[in-house]
Amino acid sequence: MDDKLKKLESAALKALKEASSPDELKNLEKKFLGKSGEITGILKGLASLSIEEKKSIGKAANDLKKTLAAKFKNCCNKIEMEHLNKTLESDEIDLSAPGRKHHIGHIHPIAQTQEEVERIFGQMGFTVIDGPEVESEYYNFEGLNIPAHHPARDMQDTFFIDKAADKKEGRLVLRTHTSPNQVRTMEKYGAPLRIIVPGRTFRNEATDASHEHTFDQVEGLMIDENISISHLKGVMQEFLSRLFDKEMKVRFRPGYFPFVEPGIELDMSCIFCESKGCKVCKKTGWIEFMGCGMVHPNVLKAGGIDSEKYQGWAFGFGLTRLVMMRYGINDIRHLTGGDLRILNQF
Ligand code: PHE
Repeated sequence: MDDKLKKLESAALKALKEASSPDELKNLEKKFLGKSGEITGILKGLASLSIEEKKSIGKAANDLKKTLAAKFKNCCNKIEMEHLNKTLESDEIDLSAPGRKHHIGHIHPIAQTQEEVERIFGQMGFTVIDGPEVESEYYNFEGLNIPAHHPARDMQDTFFIDKAADKKEGRLVLRTHTSPNQVRTMEKYGAPLRIIVPGRTFRNEATDASHEHTFDQVEGLMIDENISISHLKGVMQEFLSRLFDKEMKVRFRPGYFPFVEPGIELDMSCIFCESKGCKVCKKTGWIEFMGCGMVHPNVLKAGGIDSEKYQGWAFGFGLTRLVMMRYGINDIRHLTGGDLRILNQF
């Protein structure tokens, strides 16, 4: 019996040495160690032996089973590694090849500046409001004290939408400014109010370096009891100083917009020459920044706000122009033309 075990051991070891694939190895394991394998056969045959033989042969057979099991395991690992290496070589995967580059996009300079504007006004307690780009004539004009035959309508050459007019709100237009949201917000929230409305606006402009049919504005509106124009000056001076990260000054000139009274043009100190006078500010030290003024009582009325109790101011500036100044871009078409060679620089 001992002899038989010895022969079995050397046969198994020899076969292991010669095995070259995981499949072959599996078959050998079955043959020697499996349920109906050779060693199990010997262990099963123990029943017919004497007690002495049972003890010695049983032990020897079990020892052999353990040794062979360990050897199979080692061999199995080795063969699997070899097999894997061979597959990798023949599959032509070049592990040393450089990876594919992922192009990560970035925020458009107009949106970057919009976020900055929202952040600063947010810190000053203003809520950011959104409004429709396709507006009604009513909110774009009438509600803002610009009746149908008022010459002020000519200030903003408008795109009309080809759709039947609504009895109450008139025709549909692409909003020519963000101001329609003054009345919209008053109707929705009432007074007091402290809001900004950034967004796209549209005018039928001939395109050149400083005009586009599509551009971005930011509307501002503050309504409360005892609000005066000095609050507007303070807010704008603070906003511009935070945006440009330096002490900024503003000045008022008279301006005309039917929805404010008095109407004001606000200039800011020239950021390019520290107000000494340069080409951009035409040697004045000031740059035109926005239209603003005290909200006209007719507009408060349209928004359902008691103009005896409340008053306030509104402003509207061109976000696109602000971006151009901020980044020194001299042609508006660079921002809207979608040329990545330009946009990728910001
Ligand atoms: N809506 C005006 C424009 O687009 C700007 C403005 C807003 C003026 C609010 C006064 C008050 O030109």
